[in-house]
Amino acid sequence: MPIATDDPLWREIVTRSQLGGHPLRYLASVDSTNTLALGLGRAGAETGTVVVADTQTGGRGRLGKSWLSPPGAGLYASLILRPSLPVKGLSSLTLAAGLAAARAIEQVCGLRTGIKWPNDVLLAGRKAAGVLVECDLSGAAPLLVLGLGINLTTREEEFPPELRGRATSLLLASGKVVGRGATLKALVCSVEQVMLRMEQADFAGVLGDWRTRDVTLGRSLAWLTVDGQVVAGVSLGPDQEGCLLIRDREGRCHQALSGAIELDPSTLSGYFPESP
Ligand code: BTN
Repeated sequence: MPIATDDPLWREIVTRSQLGGHPLRYLASVDSTNTLALGLGRAGAETGTVVVADTQTGGRGRLGKSWLSPPGAGLYASLILRPSLPVKGLSSLTLAAGLAAARAIEQVCGLRTGIKWPNDVLLAGRKAAGVLVECDLSGAAPLLVLGLGINLTTREEEFPPELRGRATSLLLASGKVVGRGATLKALVCSVEQVMLRMEQADFAGVLGDWRTRDVTLGRSLAWLTVDGQVVAGVSLGPDQEGCLLIRDREGRCHQALSGAIELDPSTLSGYFPESP
């Protein structure tokens, strides 16, 4: 049974349909807040609009995965943005969005987060939040939707077997019940701050912040490319564009722009020797 939380701030936010100047659309249940936000954005919804739901029946994750969205146990939110950035810079927003989520989580639960490239937010080595960035470049200005899912009060037995031991919630990691209202407020504020830095062309600064939370640096991993190849190597961290650099056993360097990363749990540190 989900943990019942009395959250007056959440009720106030969804009743007022706005948060700190952002129009807000609330649904008790929706297939995916990202799908709805993309539709609203294409129909001309105001930049900064926030879409939230108590539950999602078809919550979507990266790479075609689904996102577990039990009623009230997590925050499921999407933000409609039209950043004034060159299209080339949009891929770096994926990392920036992960940093924004990480900082918001740190603020509300008081624990330090880790980030697994490109934007999985971890608490004590387990995934607590994920970010799905989607864009539509068909209009006059690029439409961007940042979808953020944060596990707040999910308990171990509520995760499907394949996620147990890999996923966590703020409650499991910190012992605290953190409300959706406070989390959403921190998240929207953190996204605003990070996006401002991006628009001021400070991706280097954003990346510097991101790197302090990087859990992949120096670790052995497998990169599963979108076309089904597996590249085994060691993470050298993200480059200036936000792509992950991986050095394989032959010393060749690969630049991962998308795809999934599987960390080898036995390698908390240790590079392959430098190639000659
Ligand atoms: C991932 O880690 O794979 C990304 C997960 C993103 C989940 C959020 S929940 C709110 C928004 N709506 C969706 O359908 N997905 C994102």
